Amino acid sequence: MEKTFEQLKWEMEIIDEFIEKAYEGLIIIDHKGNIIKFKYERLLDVKEEEVIGRHVTEVIENTRLHIVLKTGHPEIGDVQMIRGNNVVTSRIPIIRDGKVVGVVGTILFKDVTEVQHMAEHLDRMKRHVKKYKQELKRLNGAKYTFDEILTNDKHMQSMIDIAKKTAVTNSSVFVEGESGTGKEYFAHAIHENSYRKYGPFVKINCASIPENLIESELFGYEPGAFTGASNHGKIGKFELANGGTIFLDELNSMPLEMQGKLLRVIEERELERIGGNSRIQLDVRFISACNQNLASLVADGKFRSDLYYRLNVVHLKLPPLKNRKKDISMFAHHYLKFFSNDYPNCPNGYSREALHALEAYHWPGNVRELRNVVESAINLSTKPSITASDLPDYIYQTKSSEGIKFEIDSDFDGDLKSHMDRIEGEIILKAINQAHGNRTEAAKLLGIHRTALYKKLSKLGIME
Ligand SMILES: Nc1ncnc2c1ncn2[C@@H]1O[C@H](COP(=O)(O)OP(=O)(O)OP(=O)(O)O)[C@@H](O)[C@H]1O
Ligand SMILES: [Mg+2]
Repeated sequence: MEKTFEQLKWEMEIIDEFIEKAYEGLIIIDHKGNIIKFKYERLLDVKEEEVIGRHVTEVIENTRLHIVLKTGHPEIGDVQMIRGNNVVTSRIPIIRDGKVVGVVGTILFKDVTEVQHMAEHLDRMKRHVKKYKQELKRLNGAKYTFDEILTNDKHMQSMIDIAKKTAVTNSSVFVEGESGTGKEYFAHAIHENSYRKYGPFVKINCASIPENLIESELFGYEPGAFTGASNHGKIGKFELANGGTIFLDELNSMPLEMQGKLLRVIEERELERIGGNSRIQLDVRFISACNQNLASLVADGKFRSDLYYRLNVVHLKLPPLKNRKKDISMFAHHYLKFFSNDYPNCPNGYSREALHALEAYHWPGNVRELRNVVESAINLSTKPSITASDLPDYIYQTKSSEGIKFEIDSDFDGDLKSHMDRIEGEIILKAINQAHGNRTEAAKLLGIHRTALYKKLSKLGIME
């Protein structure tokens, strides 16, 4: 429908008013460079009717509008001196059928100091936001990234690669590994590498919440939902994690009854607070961890298989430190360097014997234990390098063969072979003891193959 003259006039008035308010100044020139619109009164003290039809160069000092008319290239945020003020301008060509038919010039700021003030203001705001973000993260966020997960081991590196790849998806991840192998580091890093990183990271340690409180901790409750409930009600951890990641640590400790409820939450992506009657939409990603073989708990009926399959979409099995020989020496040096700032006379290396002892040990507490051992050795050390005797006895026994007695009865009962067998047996038992029952480690200490050790054990009748 054609617009009436009245409608057009009304629209023009609105546009005029908008221009007046939106810009400190605005000027439009035609294809010859003559002024056709002039809202510059606030800057130049010249009325529009006095300049309409005149060439822009006659009216505005240092103008470049006529140049943009020729080049057809917009100039945005340029600084131009007008009446002793540095103003911030933009010049935009108007193009019709490929030809420049005019140019619009606008003044965004009358004075560059205005821009400086704005930039400073923005800077201040940014600093505030950063501070709040850090605080929020400290309270409810992930602390570690993939940069902090160190390794020189191929298998561990492949776990990191899978974790990085999966981080950007929404798939549930299950991390399995002995205590101290870095499961929690992985959970944090996956969250930090995901698009949920600005959302919360909420950790739930299934082993540390008493069984009778776990439901209210996870689901929250409405005021007065049960005896002893707070009058204000409580937001559950699941709800707190909305938009982010939930990290279910020590998953094996989740009571069977809760497992069923958790499964429902994962399937329906909804939950209800205890005592509530409205359903809350849930948008969370699940990462869980366990230091036991959860599959065997499933097989024993101690963990629901349907929940296990739901949570175990991506499975990361972190290798124990004892199987990552390169990592043992890497971490040993890493922690030495790490502690060197705190200890003025910190040694700067390890003796070969010390390093061998570290590599031979079975590290049940993995990286966490190694870190403690290094710290303790630094404290005991009196030399430029950490020596084997600075290590705890259970890692390095200086008098390792002292316990073996080579006594022969006075009446010399028994032949050479039986004496030799007895002594061999004692040496083997000593090695097994030193390796904390680990046969592979014991074989290594003895310098024989594991199968050879088993053969000897069986031959000597000391296989339990
Ligand atoms: N790959 C690694 N790189 C750097 N530090 C590591 C690594 N693995 C473990 N650590 C160190 O070991 C400590 C224990 O790691 P983390 O808490 O992730 O272990 P976990 O597998 O969750 O153990 P737990 O089962 O006992 O809870 C960390 O605080 C960290 O200092
Ligand atoms: Mg942990």
